[in-house]
Amino acid sequence: MPALVLLGAQWGDEGKGKATDLLGGSVDYVVRYQGGNNAGHTVVVGDQKYALHLLPSGILSPGCTPVIGNGVVVDPSVLLSELSGLEERGVDTSKLLVSGNAHLITPYHATLDKTTERFLGKRKIGTTGRGIGPTYADKINRVGIRVQDLFDESILLQKVEAALDFKNQVLAKLYNRRAISAQQVVEELLGYAGQIEKYVADTTLVLNRAIDDDKVVLFEGGQGTLLDVDHGTYPFVTSSNPTAGGACTGAGVGPTKISRVIGILKAYTTRVGAGPFPTELFDEDGEALRRIGGEFGVTTGRNRRCGWFDAVIARYATRVNGLTDFFLTKLDVLTGWERIPVCVAYEIEGERTTELPYNQSDFHHAKPVYEYLPGWSEDITKAKTFADLPRNAQAYVRALEEMSGAPVSAIGVGPGRDETIEINAFL
Ligand code: IMP
Repeated sequence: MPALVLLGAQWGDEGKGKATDLLGGSVDYVVRYQGGNNAGHTVVVGDQKYALHLLPSGILSPGCTPVIGNGVVVDPSVLLSELSGLEERGVDTSKLLVSGNAHLITPYHATLDKTTERFLGKRKIGTTGRGIGPTYADKINRVGIRVQDLFDESILLQKVEAALDFKNQVLAKLYNRRAISAQQVVEELLGYAGQIEKYVADTTLVLNRAIDDDKVVLFEGGQGTLLDVDHGTYPFVTSSNPTAGGACTGAGVGPTKISRVIGILKAYTTRVGAGPFPTELFDEDGEALRRIGGEFGVTTGRNRRCGWFDAVIARYATRVNGLTDFFLTKLDVLTGWERIPVCVAYEIEGERTTELPYNQSDFHHAKPVYEYLPGWSEDITKAKTFADLPRNAQAYVRALEEMSGAPVSAIGVGPGRDETIEINAFL
C-alpha cells in the first residue's frame, strides 16, 4: 500500500500534523500538494512543540523525505526562515525537495491579499493574509512566477514586470497604494535563489519512481475539505484543492496510484475566518470547546469558531474524497459533558435534509438537527486501546463512524505523539 492521502475532513485544523507525524517513522516521503504558509500544523515530539506552516510535517522524522509539490504556493522567505528555525533546533532539513513548478508567493501577492480584504469590507473572506489567493489567481491567469524562474534573472524580471504592469494599476488607481517596483521584487527574490536551489527537483518524477519502487508516500493536505475551492463553502474557501483529487494534480501522481484516503476528523467542529457554519456555538459550550481544545490558530493566532460535531459534513467529506477511513482527533476535549449533541441533519426552510446542500443560500440558512449522545467524565488521555475508553466514549466513536460513512482507524486522546489509539494500522 504505497500511496496514502491524509486530509482534513472539515474546515481545517483537525490535527493533521499529529496524524502525519504518527506515520512519519514508517513513511519514506511526505508530500504537500496544495496551499502554502496559510496552513498550520502543530507537532509535539517529546517535550518539544513545533509549529509548521509551509514545510511538510515529515521534516521532523529522520529517514523521511519531505516534498513540496507543484501544487503548493511557496513564500521563499517563509521557507528559508522555517528551515533555519528547525536547523537551530537540531532538525536535519537537508532532504527537502521542492518542485521547480511550484508557484512563488511574492511580496506583492501578500500586499494584494490584505488590500483586497480591506477593500471588500463586510464581504471579506477572512483570509490569512499570506498572499495565497492572489498567487493562485496569477497561476491560473498564467502570469505567475515559479520556483524555477529564480534561476534565470532575465526571465524573472520579464515575468515580474508583466505581472506588475496590471497590478500596479490596481494598487495605485483602485486601492490608492504605492506602485511596487519590479526591480526591487526581483532583487529580493534573487537573494533567496542561492539558498533554495539545492532543494529544487523534478518532484513528479521522484514521487512516481518512489511509488513504483514500493516506497511509502504520504500526501498531506493543508486546510480541509470544506475549504476546497471547488467542493467547499465557496466563496468562503481557500484558493486550492485540499480534497483528494488535489493530491493528483498537486503532485503529478495519477489517481490509480493512490491506495488509501484518510480523513482527519475532529470530534467536534471548528472554523477560522468567515462563512457558514451550522453547528457554531455562541454560548459557554463554545467557549469551553475553544479553551479545552486550545482552538487558537497556529498561523494567525485568531480564535477559532467552535461547534458540535456535524455528521452531514463528515458524510460529504467521505463522498467527495472517497475516504477509506478516518482519524478521529481530540476526543479527550469532549470529556466532562453530560450529553453531547451531534448534528445528524439540517433543517432548511422547514425541510429536513441529510445531505449538504449544493446551493450557497440554502447552506447559509441550514439549522442543525441534533441527536444527543451520552457523555463520559473519566480521563481518557491514558487510553491505549479502544477497550480502554469508557463505554460512552466508545459509543460516541461508533455513532460518528456510522453517521459519517467510513470506519475510524485511529483516535487522538491527547496532544502528545503517543496519545493515540490505533484501531487499524495505517500501514
Ligand atoms: P486563505 O487560504 O489565506 O486565502 O484564506 C481563505 C480561508 O481559508 C479563510 O477563511 C482562512 O481562515 C481559511 N484557512 C486557510 N488556511 C487554513 C488552515 O490551515 N486552517 C483553517 N482555516 C484556514
